[in-house]
Amino acid sequence: MKFSTKIERCELSPMRKYAPYADAAKARGMHIYPLNIGQPDIETPRAFFDAVASFTAPVLEYAPSDGVASYLEAVRDYYRRIGQTDLTTANLLATNGGSEALWLTMSCILDDGDEIIVPEPYYPNYSTFVTLAGGKVRPIPTTPEEGYHYAQRSKIEPLINEHTRAIMITNPGNPTGSVLTREEMKMLAGLAHEYGIFLVADEVYREFSYDGEQMASMLEFHDAAENVIVIDSVSKRFSACGARIGVVVSRNKDFLSEGMKVCQGRLCCPTLDQVGAAALYNEGPEYFAAVKEEYRRRRDTAYDMLMQIPGVVCRKPEGAFYLMAKLPVDSTDAFQIWMLEHFSASGDTVMITPGEGFYTTPGKGVDEARLAYVLKHDDLVRAMRVLAEGIDAYNHR
Ligand SMILES: Cc1ncc(COP(=O)(O)O)c(C=O)c1O
Repeated sequence: MKFSTKIERCELSPMRKYAPYADAAKARGMHIYPLNIGQPDIETPRAFFDAVASFTAPVLEYAPSDGVASYLEAVRDYYRRIGQTDLTTANLLATNGGSEALWLTMSCILDDGDEIIVPEPYYPNYSTFVTLAGGKVRPIPTTPEEGYHYAQRSKIEPLINEHTRAIMITNPGNPTGSVLTREEMKMLAGLAHEYGIFLVADEVYREFSYDGEQMASMLEFHDAAENVIVIDSVSKRFSACGARIGVVVSRNKDFLSEGMKVCQGRLCCPTLDQVGAAALYNEGPEYFAAVKEEYRRRRDTAYDMLMQIPGVVCRKPEGAFYLMAKLPVDSTDAFQIWMLEHFSASGDTVMITPGEGFYTTPGKGVDEARLAYVLKHDDLVRAMRVLAEGIDAYNHR
């Protein structure tokens, strides 16, 4: 049987490769600290479960294709609270997580052979959605020495050609944790506007910015109203990854009406999860302040301990809950496998995410890795100690 060339060009998750090694290590009784996955350990607010438990309709019906009214209204009110006062529910399409928002967007804006400019390293699933839509990622190169910052006109403008349909950015960034300044955001919006291309802004980590930059959205740049498409989700904001509820936000009516075709094609997002997600948006500023403070403390600890390891190259990340660094090993892939097969610090080891999977450019990221600081503080401290010991042992093996 023949499969599509599009799906054949896609890759399985780069993280999956290490699962058999991790299973074998666990079977030997090893304890593994997972610094490799972006699954927050913060509790999901009770409001989600209470709203679902209070749902009384006699039939669990299909929801409207663009979303349950209470969910769309809750998202609209949230955006109004962060300054986007003109937005209405007509600017929103509910999606199955940020993931479907990305898939829907790529389906609407890319044709075979089209290009989308993305700073690399980037969230690996972008490749899947771009490739399935027939497009190609044109990477903006960055370096660990520069903290993976990419938002310079001189770096991006030469990459725009007649095939370019969009620039796609993640702010705050996964895997890099870098956060754009307002000036940089303005430059990107201006560039998209000037060249008549879309600016896809994945803002699923919006609240997680630790160094005084205001929580921001590309929706603030009204000159680029037709260009900006925002990808958003409850997964990280409310530690509710299993709810599978996201949203795409835009002021471009044509984009929204094309997107509605995808929404109708997949009928709807889960009704109960939207009911729960609507309730999450009632969380007040104290919820966000507490969560942000917790992650900021973890970021500081993870970064400070990482920088004590000789040879590490990393600039302090400003947001999300990741840090990406060059590690003093020949290959983070070989190091990760060795950590699972041969290393033990009193029965402990760690998992990180080797860097190559975040790059399109062959050969890049070989000595880099992403660390997710999603562990409770004491566990994080232990995990960073185990990592440091592991690097030392690996280099002296
Ligand atoms: C940058 C980024 N975008 C989108 C997603 C998709 O998240 P979800 O589909 O759970 O909303 C993730 C998940 O890790 C992510 O890191």
